[in-house]
Amino acid sequence: MTISVDQFKQGMRKLGGAVNIVTSSHGGVRAGLTATAVTSLSADPPRLLACVNRQGATYDIISRGRTLAVNVLGVQHKELAMQFAGMNGMAETERFDDGQWTSSGEGAPILSSALVSFDCEVDSIMDVGSHGIVIGNIRSVIVPEGDSYSPLCYADGTWAKLEIIE
Ligand SMILES: Cc1cc2nc3c(=O)[nH]c(=O)nc-3n(C[C@H](O)[C@H](O)[C@H](O)COP(=O)(O)O)c2cc1C
Repeated sequence: MTISVDQFKQGMRKLGGAVNIVTSSHGGVRAGLTATAVTSLSADPPRLLACVNRQGATYDIISRGRTLAVNVLGVQHKELAMQFAGMNGMAETERFDDGQWTSSGEGAPILSSALVSFDCEVDSIMDVGSHGIVIGNIRSVIVPEGDSYSPLCYADGTWAKLEIIE
């Protein structure tokens, strides 16, 4: 039995997740997208993975530049998340106009105000249909100073925040 795209989407709406901006750069060109399909892979060696649509500019830059950063967003980054998801009509080349971005050498763009950023080099990419599963070897973990922690989430088709339960 095959389920429809609609059934898939209806189900996945219930799988809430943390919102990230996955970035890369190559030859001076930066690219990035909003992504929830990001997960920890292993601590030793330190690795994570991100699922990135193969049709977009970000996948292309990741494949060629072999760098990857995962910037974990807070609730204050909702507009930025929309921008990097192409939801506010802004051109892809203007996505980095907002926010303070840095990078180490040839590394991928790091968002200074992210809750945490994982700077990676690409270990491997497994193409599976429309998406590439990008495995990153984590070179550094950047945790900015400050103790406020309110991650931006996406659940049931809307932006949300985490509620701590006792
Ligand atoms: C909440 C949310 C989560 C998303 N998660 C992913 C994801 O995990 N992987 C992905 O490829 N696209 C994801 N997208 C879609 C991309 O952000 C969007 O298609 C983006 O414009 C692609 O940019 P690109 O063409 O530069 O690659 C998500 C969008 C939203 C709003």
